[in-house]
Amino acid sequence: MNDRSQATSDSAFVIAIDGPAASGKGTLSRRLAEEFGYAHLDTGLTYRAVGHALLQNDLPLDNEAVAVEIAKTIDLSKLDRAVLSDHAIGEAASIVAVMGSVRRALVDAQRKFSKTLPGTILDGRDIGTVVCPDANIKFYVVASPGVRAGRRFEEIVNNGGTAIYDDILRDIRTRDERDMGRKDSPLKPAGDAHLIDTSKMDIETAFQTAKAIVKKTLAV
Ligand code: C5P
Repeated sequence: MNDRSQATSDSAFVIAIDGPAASGKGTLSRRLAEEFGYAHLDTGLTYRAVGHALLQNDLPLDNEAVAVEIAKTIDLSKLDRAVLSDHAIGEAASIVAVMGSVRRALVDAQRKFSKTLPGTILDGRDIGTVVCPDANIKFYVVASPGVRAGRRFEEIVNNGGTAIYDDILRDIRTRDERDMGRKDSPLKPAGDAHLIDTSKMDIETAFQTAKAIVKKTLAV
């Protein structure tokens, strides 16, 4: 048993959830947050907010000095998933996410959020490795690129849009390469993360698996 299993009355219980795009980590995080009454932050939205601001103001995506000034102004209480979920914003986010100074500005805000009592769930790419390395519990959620592309495809079609599966698969592979291959805070599992593979597991089963781990840790 490690000494991180318990939150005290003045420290938040922190759950870190990492994984690639469309792995199911977002849904899992929201379900766990609801179940345990913890505050939830989708840290991808913070990178998306920077990308969105640059796109909206016709600013270049490759100017780190400009991007960091925007990153410093991001208000975590004003992140609008509906606005930020656009595909082009996700691409812009993964471009600014390679910039060290942008990451540092956003990580500062994310760490402050992680201290919210009684507990928090942060999901992203580097939560268990960089943002909250002392998290009480860490999950790393994966699924094969084909399964993830299929999920994105269905999501778009179910929302009345049109999409080409092969294009989505190519984008997912490109995003994986960028997120896993960057020098600063690459996407990878923390050594002490619980691995959840949702390739052949529905979200309900993934949720029940994670919930059991959280309950067991809280009961210690
Ligand atoms: O999760 P989401 O697709 O919204 O993230 C958008 C992009 O933001 C990711 O592809 C990744 O490049 C970046 N990101 C990151 N670190 C995080 C969360 C997201 O680099 N903790």
